[in-house]
Amino acid sequence: MLKFLALLTTIAVFLLLLVGGVVSGTGSGLGCPDWPLCHGKLIPDFTNPEVAIEWSHRLVAALAGFLVLVSAIVAWRQGMKMLSALSLVLVIIQAGLGGLTVKLELTSPEVTTAHLAVGLGLFATMVIITALAFRASRTSQYSVIANAGFSQLLLVSTFIVYIQMLIGGYVRHTGAGLACLDFPLCNDQGNPAGVGLQLLHRMMGVVAALLIGWLAMKASKMKQPRSVIMLAHGAFGLVLVQILLGAMSVWTQLQVHVTTTHLAVAAAILALLVTLCVKTFGTRVVAATGESVSPKSEKAVA
Ligand code: HEM
Repeated sequence: MLKFLALLTTIAVFLLLLVGGVVSGTGSGLGCPDWPLCHGKLIPDFTNPEVAIEWSHRLVAALAGFLVLVSAIVAWRQGMKMLSALSLVLVIIQAGLGGLTVKLELTSPEVTTAHLAVGLGLFATMVIITALAFRASRTSQYSVIANAGFSQLLLVSTFIVYIQMLIGGYVRHTGAGLACLDFPLCNDQGNPAGVGLQLLHRMMGVVAALLIGWLAMKASKMKQPRSVIMLAHGAFGLVLVQILLGAMSVWTQLQVHVTTTHLAVAAAILALLVTLCVKTFGTRVVAATGESVSPKSEKAVA
């Protein structure tokens, strides 16, 4: 039961991230100027589309929050105590940060980016719970060929993608999305801080693509199991699509469907890498020789 519940919750949190992206992309963050009510009501008047968008964000947040709570209870009972507690703590912090974002009237890009950071943390936690629940139902636990170089590269890639997503959030919330009006060149719009951020985000995108490309190559060369190769190559394919979507965000002057897809693909890359981490760490692994080893002794077989 945990498998499907956790998967449903992960999908709900993913949708929540996307609706959050639509809220900022359409500038609807203050569609409900109060919190937790909206214009003093539980169900406000929806004549203004900004009200409808922000209210939907809160509705999806409430549903996702409820699903996280139920998943946490079930996962706790199945021994995933730390992860269950973490998911609940993140939901509470996230609700608080959402309220603070509205109270500060979106004036703090640090708070709005922290809201994204915690949302991504919650998403990653749900991906881990889901991957563990699916793994627990399998008979074979020996899924990854132990190699310290592969594990380290995977960790660094996952970390870089997470940081890159936060930089992207900061680009958006400081209004630096169009600091350069062109891609791949900059066509500087006279906002040096914005240009710096925009170029950092582009450069990190290239670094992420190189790292994930290397990871995918390593997975194939080492003859990792098919699922590992597919996850690594899937992440690499998506990162290339992501760079194109980043360029399209600039070319279309931040059309909301393009920026929301850019966010969706970023979350998908993170999900694939986190799933690979679950497969690689905390599980018993099989060395290239076919002999089973514990993850702590990976170095010995690297
Ligand atoms: C691994 C590669 C990349 C990842 C994971 C990534 C991720 C993100 C994320 C998560 C956001 C914030 C979206 C939001 O808060 O709704 C963002 C914003 C943005 N990204 Fe990227 N990005 C990548 C590469 C690029 C590249 C190469 C460009 C090229 C120009 C780019 C351009 C942008 C722009 C312009 C924004 C701001 C959108 C706005 O203001 O609405 N991204 N990115």
